[in-house]
Order: sequence, then structure tokens, then C-alpha cells
Amino acid sequence: MPVPRRKVSVLCVMLNIFFCFLVAVSWNLRRDKSTRQKIVIPSKKFWHQQVRSKYFWNREQQRLDIIHNSILNSLIELPDWLNDTGPLDPCRPDYRVPTQIEDYNSLPKRFQDFLLHMRCRTYPLLINQPHLCNEKPFLLLVVKTLIPHFDRRQAIRETWGRAGVFANRTVATVFLLGNTLSLDHFPDLHGMLHHEAALHKDLLQWDYRDTFFNLTVKEVLFLEWFSQNCPHAKFILKGDDDVFVNTLRIIDLLTNLSDSRAKELFIGDVISNAGPNRNQKLKYFIPESMFVGKYPPYAGGGGYLYSGELALRLHSVSQQVVLYPIDDVYTGMCLKKLGLAPENHSGFRTFGIEEKFRNNPCVYRSLMLVHSRTPQEMLSVWPWIIHPELNCQ
Ligand SMILES: *[C@@H]1O[C@H](CO)[C@@H](O)[C@H](O)[C@H]1NC(C)=O
Ligand SMILES: *[C@@H]1O[C@H](CO)[C@@H](O)[C@H](O)[C@H]1NC(C)=O
Ligand SMILES: *[C@@H]1O[C@H](CO)[C@@H](O)[C@H](O)[C@H]1NC(C)=O
Ligand SMILES: *[C@@H]1O[C@H](CO)[C@@H](O)[C@H](O)[C@H]1NC(C)=O
Ligand SMILES: *[C@@H]1O[C@H](CO)[C@@H](O)[C@H](O)[C@H]1NC(C)=O
Repeated sequence: MPVPRRKVSVLCVMLNIFFCFLVAVSWNLRRDKSTRQKIVIPSKKFWHQQVRSKYFWNREQQRLDIIHNSILNSLIELPDWLNDTGPLDPCRPDYRVPTQIEDYNSLPKRFQDFLLHMRCRTYPLLINQPHLCNEKPFLLLVVKTLIPHFDRRQAIRETWGRAGVFANRTVATVFLLGNTLSLDHFPDLHGMLHHEAALHKDLLQWDYRDTFFNLTVKEVLFLEWFSQNCPHAKFILKGDDDVFVNTLRIIDLLTNLSDSRAKELFIGDVISNAGPNRNQKLKYFIPESMFVGKYPPYAGGGGYLYSGELALRLHSVSQQVVLYPIDDVYTGMCLKKLGLAPENHSGFRTFGIEEKFRNNPCVYRSLMLVHSRTPQEMLSVWPWIIHPELNCQ
């Protein structure tokens, strides 16, 4: 049946009216919004003049921040108090430092040593393994160790750090070492170390004094080595030589990751809301004249897991972060500079597990990493991990 013409034109007019109504309403809404949203013109400059920090590390960081901020850099000159180039060679002790820290002379010796060499990041490589990553590792196990710890290294090689193909994945293992100074009166173990390096081809050694405060140097040197010799490794697990790692579970976790999560992976036992400890008697004491501020979230240095891609980014950003004497805090600072934070995982137990679980095979099955274990304990626990007949529910 044909529709009468009049009806059609009435319908058209009604539709037109409705359309006009819609336009008017939305126009009004928009005008309403725009009159409410005034453009705010800042009354102050959008950057502020740097105020000289009273604390040495913070001041050094202000200097690096300005040097690396290319926008500000082209606008402003370094203020006088930051324009101190120091010795031409950053690896010569910086004898201006004692005059720049009020209580330098009363600081414990380890701080004086650290502060004098704080700008040095390069030391000669004494033992290298340029071919370690010839077969692109899925997982690179990196162990911080000290020269005399032969038995710990051997226990790791025989257990969780066994290099080769494991769970159908290529695993490589490397140990990081510094050196000793004759003034520290250590017996000479270099002959034995060179024998070990030739036998296992898994040692890296640099020529610096291997102390607790120089662990940050070890970290930075490793990142440098990694970016030159092993940049294609997919993942890195970095830990102490007294942790036990459930390599099987780590590989399991990594295999399950989505590509996007794998890229920026950084997981461990995360500590947040921490800050410098002011108790002189403790290992983690930091004097106020050196650093004031909060620590970013960081993963306990006993062991953490991250992606090779992130290691390359950490390497480049570390140039912009002043060395800090606590290595895991330093890594947290570098992550923060990248706009990232470590992810907490209950399987990483850098503070140990309850005593009653210590000898429970099934507990180890679900852990990723636990601190601390002796070489004998590693050998006794490892079979629990790899023997599938054990039934844990
Ligand atoms: C630092 O000071 C020197 C001389 O005092 C000056 O020539 C140089 O341009 C300054 N550098 C920066 C980055 O401001
Ligand atoms: C072993 O891993 C490779 C990739 O690395 C994969 O292609 C292959 O399917 C795996 N084999 C088994 C049995 O899982
Ligand atoms: C770190 O190593 C350097 C080079 O061997 C040394 O001069 C310095 O004293 C060490 N720092 C600490 C805190 O031990
Ligand atoms: C990985 O995935 C497998 C199969 O989906 C699962 O059985 C295993 O528990 C997962 N592992 C981890 C560590 O999430
Ligand atoms: C991380 O997890 C552990 C337990 O697995 C917990 O004790 C700790 O408080 C957590 N840390 C943060 C920062 O949430």
C-alpha cells in the first residue's frame, strides 16, 4: 500500500525538529563546559631553581639530573655549586669530597672509602667469558660471590645452577667476582681461582676491592658486561651465593608469561616504604650527611628475576643515578628512574622461611628462591625439586 504524501512530509518535519533539538542541546552542553573550564595561566615558572641540597648523595644526584635533562640543560647553566668537574679521571680518589661533607672525618672508614671513589664505574676485567652466551640463554643465572667461596660455587653448579638444557630451556650460569687488595691481608687464592675459571668457564672477575659497599659497582659492571656480551638472553636471575633457587619453578613461571609482561618483568621480595637506617651499629646504616630521603620500592638483593630487555634499559639509565652503597636499593632507584617498580612475589623468600618448614620437601616445591642455605643443604634439597615421584598436594 502506498504511503500518503502528507504523512511523509509531516514525518520529515518532525524528524527535522527533533534533530534541531538534539543539536541545540549538545551545543548548550558544550558551551556550559567551556565556560566552566577556564584556561589557567601559571603565575610561577614551571621549573624551580635548584636549591643546593645539604646532603652529599642528594647533591650529586641533582648534578646528574641537570646534566642529563637535555631540555633544562639548554636553558640553564649549572649553578656554581654544582659546576665542579672534580678530577678529570673519575677513578682517581676525589680529595675534594672530605671538604664537602661536614662530618667526613668522623664517618666509619667504609663510608670514607666509598665516597672517595663514588664516581668510578669502570674497572679492568681480569677474567672474562666472552662465549658464555653463544647459545642464546633463555635464563641466565647470575651469582654474586667472593673469591674464597669455592664450595658454594661448586654446590650451585651441582644443583640449581647447573648450566645446559633444563626443562627444555637453555640455562647459562655465571659468577661475579671482584678482587682483594694486599692491604686487606687476604691469603692469595688467585692460582686456585684461575684453575677454577679454566675448568668451568663460568667466572667473571673485575679488579676492584670486593666489599659490601662495592656490590653496587658489581651490579653496574655486570650490566655493562651483559649489554656487550649477552644482550639476547631472555631472562636473568640474580642472586647471592647462599640462596637456593628452584630453577624448575622459575622456568615454569617464565614460560607462562605473556609477551607484554615478559618485557618489563622485575620480580622479587619487595620492600616498600623503607628509608635509610640511622643506627650506626647496623650493616645498613647511612649517615644523614650522605643521604636523606625515602627509598623507592626495591627487591631484596638476595635474589630477583628480570628480563634481559629490562637489563639493557637498567644499564643505560644507571648512568643517570649516582652510585648508592646498598646495591638492591640502587637497583630500585634505577627502576624508579625508568618509571617502573618491582613486583612482589611470595615465592621469593630472601628473609627465609619458618624453621618448621626447613626440611619439608613439598614446601620447596612451591618456592622460587630462599635464603640462606649452606652448600650441603643445597645438595640435600635439590633432589626434592627434580624427583617427580614426590607427591605434594
Ligand atoms: C662551569 O664553569 C666554567 C668556568 O667557571 C664555565 O666555563 C663553564 O661553562 C661552566 N659549565 C657549566 C655547564 O655551567
Ligand atoms: C622445547 O622448546 C622449544 C622452544 O624453545 C619448543 O619449540 C618445543 O616445542 C619444546 N619442546 C617440548 C617438548 O616442550
Ligand atoms: C671499592 O673499590 C675501589 C677499587 O678497588 C676501592 O678503592 C674502594 O676503596 C672500594 N670501596 C669500598 C667501600 O670498599
Ligand atoms: C604454569 O602453567 C601451568 C599450566 O597452565 C601450570 O600448571 C603451572 O602451575 C603454572 N606455573 C606457574 C609458576 O604459574
Ligand atoms: C611481599 O610479600 C610478602 C609475603 O609474600 C609480604 O610479607 C611483604 O610485605 C610484601 N611486600 C609488599 C611491599 O607488599
